[in-house]
Amino acid sequence: MSIIIKNSEDIQKMRVAGRLAAEVLEMIAPHVQPGVTTNELDRICHDHIMNVQHATPAPLNYHGFPKSICTSVNHVVCHGIPSDKPLKGGDIINMDITVIKDGFHGDTSMMFCVGEPSIKARRVVQIAHECLLIGIRMVRPGVRLGDIGYAIQRHAEHSGCSVVREYCGHGIGRGFHEDPQVLHYGQPDTGVTLEPGMTFTIEPMINLGKRHVKLLPDEWTVVTKDHSLSAQWEHTVLVTETGVEVLTLRAGEEI
Ligand code: MF3
Ligand code: CO
Ligand code: CO
Repeated sequence: MSIIIKNSEDIQKMRVAGRLAAEVLEMIAPHVQPGVTTNELDRICHDHIMNVQHATPAPLNYHGFPKSICTSVNHVVCHGIPSDKPLKGGDIINMDITVIKDGFHGDTSMMFCVGEPSIKARRVVQIAHECLLIGIRMVRPGVRLGDIGYAIQRHAEHSGCSVVREYCGHGIGRGFHEDPQVLHYGQPDTGVTLEPGMTFTIEPMINLGKRHVKLLPDEWTVVTKDHSLSAQWEHTVLVTETGVEVLTLRAGEEI
């Protein structure tokens, strides 16, 4: 395992990439409405990243991924491929945006409620968000990744939900997915000890039912095995001398 510690120039570029990724979510929010197709959302994000931000959508052609963003609806856990299927009232959708600017990546995702989702749907969206916040608020030098995974898992499971184990957060920088792996479950006092200059994502995938997942034949779309609803939120963070800086914070968002 080799974790790349970022210097102050790298960090400045990570701040820019992170802000651009956050701005894509701010820009797309009003478009997430019943009747819109996820292909339309993909096109709007692609055009904004390319033509307004003069940046690159990292997912496009990444290991063969065919689109510029991931759109994961209802029981889709992650890596949903945009399609011509329209969103309908009651859906929950994760939009996952990764941009590359000046050689560095910013990676962030959030849930949107379309129309008026059920109490259950809103609950898994909220618990997944709480799991992200719990993780982010723990980040500072000396804390170990196992401490963070444990705290996230504890909150999810005490809330009657489960944590997906097959996918995790990751170091990020010039690489989309760098070391370390950031598991959203685990044991206290284990794993990598955080140091200033580390940049990584926290992106818990939380299921309303059991934790098990399966990969669809398209070899990208990950769904819950029991077809229960799933929710995910993601930020890119920097470990500072004293704590954490969220590089993908949106306007008005508080941690
Ligand atoms: N953005 C995802 C993550 O959080 C990765 C998507 S890879 C893709 O790590 F190929 F599906 F786009
Ligand atoms: Co990520
Ligand atoms: Co992502």
